Amino acid sequence: MDTRPIGVFDSGVGGLTVVKQIMKVMPHENIVYFGDTARVPYGTKSKEAVTKYSKQNVRFLLSKEVKAIIVACNTASSNSLDALRETFDVPIFGVVVPGVEEALRSTKNKKIGVIGTPGTVRSGAYERMICEQDSEMQVFTKACPLFVPLAEEGWTDNEVSRQAAKRYLEELVATGIDSLVLGCTHYPLLKRCIGQTVGEAIKLVDPAKATARRVMAFLKEHDLLNESEGVGEKQFYLSDSTDTFRFVCQKALKHPYEPEIIDIEMY
Ligand code: SIN
Repeated sequence: MDTRPIGVFDSGVGGLTVVKQIMKVMPHENIVYFGDTARVPYGTKSKEAVTKYSKQNVRFLLSKEVKAIIVACNTASSNSLDALRETFDVPIFGVVVPGVEEALRSTKNKKIGVIGTPGTVRSGAYERMICEQDSEMQVFTKACPLFVPLAEEGWTDNEVSRQAAKRYLEELVATGIDSLVLGCTHYPLLKRCIGQTVGEAIKLVDPAKATARRVMAFLKEHDLLNESEGVGEKQFYLSDSTDTFRFVCQKALKHPYEPEIIDIEMY
């Protein structure tokens, strides 16, 4: 039994979709969330920049005495996870491996689509890991950079988001995929719009659910679960103030949590 919080970081507020899944699967856990709203998006930055930012984010979470860290951001998970694990002595989980496992469970025709930021797609992490598991798999990737600002703007299901989804996803649908990985924390916020665009025959895979289950299994195995009664405490930190936090928090967590602003450059 360990009552220390789980640390979660993301490039911005999209990681709240991961917090939502942790709260569902492990309601008793305390959670410290950091969203790097001053430096979002990570998806268009270099691997070096994303790794530097990610290390600062981990240092901040460690200052809150977390027992494990979830890298909710797909771009950071794809580009920086190894560097983080080499640098810090704390269990660190990314979202790519759980997303890959979920996609492999989902597909029947061995054709998987992956959408993500340019940084995630460029890293090739999803393709590599899917094909390592099963060399017969065909993986079709597509960077959808506009989805992040659309989600941040709260334009999750309107004429503009539908138009963008159509432009980005048409060619993926034409490949015959039967499963589509939402390889960016922001994309579950556009799930309705993406789902309507690709049609019911294509199953949407959200790595957040599988990530929460994986972390729970690890904590259980290492006797680190918080077995206290009651709902765990949540603390939210951002590197810059943003109205988007309130909108996404209400949409994803159905609660108006108040974030605290910190200077991430100090870490
Ligand atoms: C971004 O920061 O560009 C989006 C977050 C992600 O990659 O999951």
